[in-house]
Amino acid sequence: MDKLKITGGRRLSGHIPIGGAKNAALPLITASLLTDQPLSLENVPRLADIRTLCRLLSGHGVEIGDTDANANGAKPRGVRSMTLHAAHIRDTTAPYDLVRKMRASVLVLGPLLARCGEALVSLPGGCAIGTRPVDLHIAGLRKMGAEIDLQGGYIEARAPRGLIGAEILFPMVSVGATENLMMAATLARGETVLTNAAREPEVTDLARCLVAMGADISGIGTDTMRIVGRDRLHGARHIIVPDRIEAGTYAMAAAMTDGDVELLGMRLDLIQSVAASLRAAGVEMTETSGGLRVRRTGDLLEGVDVMTEPFPGFPTDLQAQIMALMTTARGAAMITETIFENRFMHVPELARMGANITVHHSSALVRGVGALTGAPVMATDLRASVSLVLAGLVGKGTTTLNRIYHLDRGYERLEEKLATCGADIERVKGEE
Ligand code: UD1
Repeated sequence: MDKLKITGGRRLSGHIPIGGAKNAALPLITASLLTDQPLSLENVPRLADIRTLCRLLSGHGVEIGDTDANANGAKPRGVRSMTLHAAHIRDTTAPYDLVRKMRASVLVLGPLLARCGEALVSLPGGCAIGTRPVDLHIAGLRKMGAEIDLQGGYIEARAPRGLIGAEILFPMVSVGATENLMMAATLARGETVLTNAAREPEVTDLARCLVAMGADISGIGTDTMRIVGRDRLHGARHIIVPDRIEAGTYAMAAAMTDGDVELLGMRLDLIQSVAASLRAAGVEMTETSGGLRVRRTGDLLEGVDVMTEPFPGFPTDLQAQIMALMTTARGAAMITETIFENRFMHVPELARMGANITVHHSSALVRGVGALTGAPVMATDLRASVSLVLAGLVGKGTTTLNRIYHLDRGYERLEEKLATCGADIERVKGEE
């Protein structure tokens, strides 16, 4: 298995291109199941999670064209487009082997059920950051008239006469449930109202693409969306929104290393809450003609309290990274995780690098230490892994990060992007 070797202490300076958002690309790919015409997506990130989902969709019968995969096998670069054509859906089963690899696979449930009247989708099961049930997805589809049984680890869903519009009030904000039900509602009979819907930019991006495909959706970007079902949707071309989590991660890398980095293609409106926390910590983020420039204003970062919340609050997917940042800040920072119950797996690893962190229930008190030291570390999930990379960038000596397949799920060419800005980081190929 590959490892990353990082020697800390280099200031980052330069430009980092920000890719299309993984969490927007995944539901957008499943939206292709809603129409028999081709859906073209641009700015698709090159990530393991995208490949896993494409494998699942191929199994359903979707033809996938990758327009810049070049014939000579050289590593393709630049903007990547993908065309997904679900002319005929030949199989409505999403098998355990693929779904267990990635929870977002459950997003095929709404589209398959709406288009084909049936779907058999494996339950995603637990994952490193908590139990993460799919009860809200199932309850919403039942309200839309689906018959759903849970059998042998699978969600068996049927709506032989089609789905019907319904009023759905989410008891808690769920990105995935909002996306699944919004997609299902585009082909349902009548109007669906989603109340307390997620407002994440990735949800909005999906809604805009669905509208381009002919869906009737109002209230996009708010917590109440109305969807009037159509008989059919058509093809469209859509450019995926930039990845605010990738951008936030590199912003923190720049801040921690006292660097000066421009995040190309990024927009401030996508990360206002992150920018506010970073500003309070002594980091300036300014819009440029090419994106966002990030640099530290003072000699040291200041400890700032952070609480994760649904958008527009501080994203849980940047909690591990801001914790890494706070480990070397002046003073203390209280970091509270309100979205997932078990998302502090990075704490013991950061502690191995000299961080001073005390966890009490869903809060972590981080007392800034003068410096971290490099160490061999191991990560349990995507965002935890990258927080260790950030710590490695400022740790004295060398950090070796094991199990980097987690990173490859969500960060495209991470070591290359950081190295271009001056980081001392390399991938060490391991045996398979
Ligand atoms: C998405 C993101 C993930 C991010 C998360 C929260 C994708 C592919 N993944 O995950 O990176 O961390 O949003 O911003 O977009 N819940 C239930 N029942 C449900 C569904 C969710 O109890 O049926 C709970 C979850 O356990 C969690 C909370 O709701 O505590 C939020 O989860 P949700 O927003 O659904 O996360 P995902 O869509 O899985």
